[in-house]
Amino acid sequence: MKRFTYLIVALLLVSGIKVKADEGMWLPMFIDRLNYVDMQNKGLQLTPEEIYSVNSSSLKDAIVGLSNSPAPQGYFCTGEMVSSQGLMFTNHHCGFDAIQKHSTVDHDYLADGFWAMSFEEELPNEGLTASFLIRMDDVTDSILNNISDTLIGQARTAAIKEITERLKTNASEDGKYNVVVKSFFNGNEYYLFVYEVYRDVRLVGAPPSSIGKYGGDTDNWMWPRHTGDFSIFRIYTAPDGSPAEYSEENVPMVPKHHLPISLDGVEKDDFAMIWGFPGSTDRYLTAKGVEFTTEYYFPPLIDVFGKKLETWKKHMNEDQAVRIKYASQYAMIANSWKYFIGQRKGVKNLDVIGTKEKYQKEFMNWVNSDPERKEKYGNVISDIDEQILQQMGSIKPLIYASVSGMGGSQIIGFARNYSGLESKLEKLKEEKDKKKKAKAEEKISKMAEEMISNLDEDYKDYDMATDKDVFAEMTKLYYENLASDMYPEILVDLHKKFKGDFYAIADYVFEESVFGDPKKTEEFLKDPKLKDLQKDPAFIFSKQYMAGLMKASQSFRQENPAAAKAERLYMQAMREMEPDRYFYPNANSTMRFTYGQVLPYSPADAVEYDYVTHLSGVIAKEDPSNDEFIVAPKLKELYETKDYGPYGTECGSMVVCFLTNNDITGGNSGSPVINGKGELIGIAFDGNWEAMSSDIAFAPKFQRTIVVDSRYVLFIIDKFAGATRLIDELTIHKQMPEPERVEMMEEVPTE
Ligand code: ARG
Repeated sequence: MKRFTYLIVALLLVSGIKVKADEGMWLPMFIDRLNYVDMQNKGLQLTPEEIYSVNSSSLKDAIVGLSNSPAPQGYFCTGEMVSSQGLMFTNHHCGFDAIQKHSTVDHDYLADGFWAMSFEEELPNEGLTASFLIRMDDVTDSILNNISDTLIGQARTAAIKEITERLKTNASEDGKYNVVVKSFFNGNEYYLFVYEVYRDVRLVGAPPSSIGKYGGDTDNWMWPRHTGDFSIFRIYTAPDGSPAEYSEENVPMVPKHHLPISLDGVEKDDFAMIWGFPGSTDRYLTAKGVEFTTEYYFPPLIDVFGKKLETWKKHMNEDQAVRIKYASQYAMIANSWKYFIGQRKGVKNLDVIGTKEKYQKEFMNWVNSDPERKEKYGNVISDIDEQILQQMGSIKPLIYASVSGMGGSQIIGFARNYSGLESKLEKLKEEKDKKKKAKAEEKISKMAEEMISNLDEDYKDYDMATDKDVFAEMTKLYYENLASDMYPEILVDLHKKFKGDFYAIADYVFEESVFGDPKKTEEFLKDPKLKDLQKDPAFIFSKQYMAGLMKASQSFRQENPAAAKAERLYMQAMREMEPDRYFYPNANSTMRFTYGQVLPYSPADAVEYDYVTHLSGVIAKEDPSNDEFIVAPKLKELYETKDYGPYGTECGSMVVCFLTNNDITGGNSGSPVINGKGELIGIAFDGNWEAMSSDIAFAPKFQRTIVVDSRYVLFIIDKFAGATRLIDELTIHKQMPEPERVEMMEEVPTE
């Protein structure tokens, strides 16, 4: 074994490859060429074919991209197949929106959990889709060989688009597949991805939030963690196995591969890999780019999101129905808000800007030491930074206009939906021809009827009193943070009329507008009049906010072809400067894997964190006065009786979460954490506070992935929920300790 290791090290040295186990989100098609030897060395026992194969079933066939689109370009979360009957695991926070949508005060699945005890009880989720990667191809040459290097700006984008569209059509097999082409390494490489998209994905099980979201926003992004962050879905297909819309006739999918689940538990240094769809990272940003992100982009978002959360929370605490309505939106905004704050802290603590500046100095020395290089790459950083400087000056109005203006309150969004009706009514007014007029009227009443039929759905997660306060607070932030040339006229008028009292402005708008109340909207729609629409204050706000947003967006997004070219060249130059370094592409919502180990860490001087947490820690954190730390009585009972079944450890404890040093980001949520044998050991669900800057710079000493242990997942399904029918369809692996096996054999009665 040892000799083998030396051989590998020697090979790596000879070929000059430097691979780091933990850092990197790697492309599956290169596993054999780039990573396999290193992975094997670290404990992987599968062959490359067993992991990624285009011709036969392999591990990649168990990995699912989750989206709300029938033809996704990206995925909000990852899932993994765990049975031959289409059962899929993901995170509770990935299923949260679906769970919330099915919840009412009478069936509060968020609070109480949900367990379908038969196939019939499984709940369809309109719009939710599950994508499987069929294959990926390198199409760099097909694209870049047909494009001149000097082509820049919109002409370049258009030329690339034309070729990609052709490639996509060819690979789609008449629409059977969803084909996506993405740029990698800032336009230096292109890959094509062929996916099969399943459109009938049903909710099967979810623990109560007191397990699935235990610790809430307080513990979010942090270790030590005690969250059972998982939920269960099932993919259905048409009877012939092909993807289909929801139908009663549909049958559970038979996936090409599903992951067996290990009950053996993890130990420090164990091999662990994670497969999934990381959304976005920006690891090759310049120092100025980092400054832009943390000092210009995030602060207005933190400001607006913080106020929105505070306002929502007040109302959610007072009323269960309101709490259910806003739960999903609240969780999403709270998660981003804390992420922005954490990333700013991380960038400072880890001196990310200083490190980048040092790197850029070395880079410029390398560039300047050769006249040819100087000619080619001499301006790349300054060209990139010039665009960033321009954006630093224009981001603030854009953020406030979009998140406190247009996207501030729901009433503005509702009103915005009526601009189509407005133009139809305007045309009608101009129409002189009687016949055409009658036709136009018919069209309008059809449109209005349809809008009436959508009202229940549109206003499902809306509470007027809550949104009125949100409107007041958001309008105030807009007013206080933007220059007067961004003020909508109506805001100026109302501000004067109500002497700067934003709550009085809100009262007026919600009283006078039809869009704050679906009943009033319905009345309006029964006989829609242009005059009424055009004097509706929410409608006027929506139009004027939109105009402001367009203006802010234009000044932010000034076309800068030199910068786009410079980004491409900077990447190319870095790779030229460091030929021995293996660069991995930024995350872009395509399938990746990352591999590393189960590891503890030290978050600060003299502080050591263990790599596992236990059920005892859940109990220790209990606080019945805080809804984030409530422990269900049943869970407490199981803890007290130590009724862990086969899921506890040999020492009689129940592991809840563990840590690895894998490199993941948002989108990886729900990803399988897999051991060297290809078995599921847990589900990844978070990153840690000390490495919140990781989307910009990997922090090897601190960066950890937080995983819910597969044993805890099964314990909750089996012992807590009693959903044994689900346990029965899983493929469970548990190694018997040697002596016990002998005992068992002795106990077998002879017939
Ligand atoms: N931080 C996790 C992620 O971005 C989400 C965790 C959800 N939990 C919560 N308390 N909001 O994937």
